[in-house]
Amino acid sequence: MMTGTPVIILKEGTQRNQGKNAQSNNIAAAKAIADAVKTTLGPRGMDKMLVDSLGDVIITNDGATILKEIDIEHPAAKMIVEVSKTQDNECGDGTTSAVVIAGELLKKAEELTESNVHSTIIANGYRIAAEEAKRVLSKMSLKISPDDKILLRDIAKTAMTGKSIGSSGKLSQLTVDAVRAIMEKKDKTVTADIENIKIEKKHGGSISDTELVKGIIIDKERVHPRMPFKVSNAKIALVNAALEVKKTEVSAEIKIDDASQLQKFLAEEERMIRDMVEQVKGAGANVLFCQKGIDDVAQHFLARDGIYAVRRVKESDLKKLAKATGASIVSNLSELTRKELGFAKEVSQNKIADDEMTFVTGCRNPKAVSVLIRGGTDHVIDEVERSLHDALKVVAVAMEDGKIVPGGGATEIELALHLKQFAQSVGGREQLAIEAFAEAMEVIPRALAENAGLDGIDTLIELKSAHGGKKKNKNSGVNVFTGQITDMTKLKVLEPLRVKTQAIESATDVATMILRIDDVIAAKATEMPAAPPGGMGGMGGMPPMM
Ligand SMILES: Nc1ncnc2c1ncn2[C@@H]1O[C@H](COP(=O)(O)OP(=O)(O)OP(=O)(O)O)[C@@H](O)[C@H]1O
Ligand SMILES: [Mg+2]
Repeated sequence: MMTGTPVIILKEGTQRNQGKNAQSNNIAAAKAIADAVKTTLGPRGMDKMLVDSLGDVIITNDGATILKEIDIEHPAAKMIVEVSKTQDNECGDGTTSAVVIAGELLKKAEELTESNVHSTIIANGYRIAAEEAKRVLSKMSLKISPDDKILLRDIAKTAMTGKSIGSSGKLSQLTVDAVRAIMEKKDKTVTADIENIKIEKKHGGSISDTELVKGIIIDKERVHPRMPFKVSNAKIALVNAALEVKKTEVSAEIKIDDASQLQKFLAEEERMIRDMVEQVKGAGANVLFCQKGIDDVAQHFLARDGIYAVRRVKESDLKKLAKATGASIVSNLSELTRKELGFAKEVSQNKIADDEMTFVTGCRNPKAVSVLIRGGTDHVIDEVERSLHDALKVVAVAMEDGKIVPGGGATEIELALHLKQFAQSVGGREQLAIEAFAEAMEVIPRALAENAGLDGIDTLIELKSAHGGKKKNKNSGVNVFTGQITDMTKLKVLEPLRVKTQAIESATDVATMILRIDDVIAAKATEMPAAPPGGMGGMGGMPPMM
């Protein structure tokens, strides 16, 4: 019986968006994000300038960075941002591609739902297609060995082209050298953890002054000018306690009523500090890295004993030093013995631009390397760091997996053609979804071409004819600099297999997840943020974000 009394289930202020409406809203948001980064794809893609609320400026081409820096409100758009993060963590590169593919998968899905194919069928078809795509990719991949320096350099170069810093041969060579220095081979598996490569940045000079240092660089100088500039055969102490007289926690008052007592008091303080320095010296150290402070008196004694000391070293740096030199970090000076010391052939202070830095080279662990990035402005240095991160990671991934594929849209066209045929063998309604998936793959070569000022459709047609027909070269891709269709292995545009498989995997995951949502129930925000014009739906035009 209807009584007319409303039944209240959701708290006041809850926003609800159901059915087709919810779905098309989510898809619109995801597409908006994909469209925003699409123009940055490829060597001839453009950059974005991001200004944060404090007015700081970032200029980048890196998909993950763009999406990390912009404030996104829409929940579905946030899911897309996650895709770029996963891609960044797993492969370092391909973040833009992953997001663009996700957007395209959703766009195609929307067209299918309009012709009454149910979302779960689409999701299912997409899953089948993604599995098949991974199989095909793996089949078309080429092998690479960790010792193949030239191929590895090409991979680094591919990851760096198109970043605003360009792709200097020197940087790609440096990338390969750095990763090869830290890689570890056990039985037949190779691991390369790029966390072991320390990156330091110093304003000044030019990008080509960027150098690889076999050792650790600490952005600090020695504390006292009378300390040695250079220590050979360094025995290194790492301490995270202060070389200062401790201030008492409780406030105490000391009454001194004659001058000799004051003298004694000061002498006692000096003795305590001298003892600390004695402990360092007694352990046999001639270099000291201290996480806390070193007071003036201690500096004086250390200098007198010819010890090179650095204070307020970052904890993360201290850990890296421990790993590189074999030292143990001690938190109490009295624990410091010869056993805790680390070793390096040389510790020296070098002047880089106007700043002094400490170089620890010839470490006990030869796997410790640093890259010192140089560049004209901070924006340039930051973008070099991001590109270098991409390049280091792809080289590491290629070494670990030992499999690479051609870039320039070659894999995507191959997948598009193969999946179209494969769809027919699956049949049923899923066939439509697999065909849509196949078409979605074309977004990458098309965007590459369009960003280069070429005609997207013409390029697709040429690419397809190069992959099929008589010539049948599955490595054909678009050379974005000449507009010609070329064999990408000859042009040396190569990428690790994992960059492609991961992009497809995460794009499929997020697309199917968004497709299956038919109800968005949003609690009232506790604090109302200043609503952008158009609110949640205002993403379509994007301009307010950038
Ligand atoms: N010289 C080249 N010619 C043609 N295509 C290239 C060339 N170098 C790279 N590419 C292609 O450019 C695409 C990569 O572009 P880009 O680096 O801008 O985006 P991403 O790798 O997807 O994301 P990000 O680098 O932002 O994480 C890949 O498809 C790659 O094959
Ligand atoms: Mg890239």
